Amino acid sequence: MKMILINASPRKNGNTAQLLKSAQKGALEAGAETEYVDLFDLTFTGCRSCLACKRKGMKRCHCYWKDDLSPLLDRIFEADALVIGCPVYFGDITASLQALLERLQFCCMSYDDYSNYFTGHVKTGVILTMNAPESMYEAWYREAFTKRLRGLGYLNGGTQILPSCDTLQVDDYSKYNMGSFNESHKKRVHQTEFPRDLEKAYSFGKQLVSE
Ligand SMILES: Cc1cc2nc3c(=O)[nH]c(=O)nc-3n(C[C@H](O)[C@H](O)[C@H](O)COP(=O)(O)O)c2cc1C
Repeated sequence: MKMILINASPRKNGNTAQLLKSAQKGALEAGAETEYVDLFDLTFTGCRSCLACKRKGMKRCHCYWKDDLSPLLDRIFEADALVIGCPVYFGDITASLQALLERLQFCCMSYDDYSNYFTGHVKTGVILTMNAPESMYEAWYREAFTKRLRGLGYLNGGTQILPSCDTLQVDDYSKYNMGSFNESHKKRVHQTEFPRDLEKAYSFGKQLVSE
């Protein structure tokens, strides 16, 4: 069982990375072989519309653009499980994850009949982190992100989402103009809820391997 974990946050030790590393520990505990990738270390763009993946006689489910992302896409198609960690940016996924999804989806999608060329199965989990409290996640984001991440359906393995809400964005709010956040509330959530989210992430990683 091979699991790829992708950090789609620019912060290498932020909330998203910590949760992903916990999921990785769970997956390792369950016996998986894992690969952890910081997406922001890679140089790539979204789909360049070269259409090489649609040329007659070309191998399918392969992105032909030569950059750092294409080999990662190849490894995703060969993996058994994929866990993506992503902070919410403006109610959406990060631009880097959007670029990855464009490339992944486009090389799977047939332009003859819009069917899926990919016949394998990659179980997929997404860890979303956000400033929004849980009530806002439930009211605004849960359904929106379920739709937003539909492109991962091309991997045929189902997509589960684990949210981590009300995250601590900076250690010392007094150094920033971030007056819309209540520092003592943020710190309390970080001390009480975030450790639980780390445990949930551990189980999330373990369960994706064991299922
Ligand atoms: C550019 C930017 C936009 C953001 N937009 C939102 C947002 O729309 N909703 C939200 O709940 N949090 C938003 N956040 C907060 C992050 O999602 C949150 O702090 C997240 O946990 C950061 O993850 P990280 O520590 O792994 O970088 C935004 C943060 C940044 C930097």
